[in-house]
Amino acid sequence: MKAFVNKDTCIACETCPAVCPEVFSMDDDGLAVAITDDIPSDLEDSAVEARDSCPVDAIDIKE
Ligand code: F3S
Repeated sequence: MKAFVNKDTCIACETCPAVCPEVFSMDDDGLAVAITDDIPSDLEDSAVEARDSCPVDAIDIKE
């Protein structure tokens, strides 16, 4: 599983790093970024929760 943040859509609400800080962080540009290439299986639920919590649907998670 991999996570991607669409920086054109992210409004920097900082929800995703709050929900799943192991996978998402805020970048130097103030927008979210996925910091893991492959999401470890024990973090998948948390990463999906972060995606579902994004108010603007800026996060994609792919198998
Ligand atoms: Fe941006 Fe959505 Fe995260 S707005 S900071 S990608 S929860």
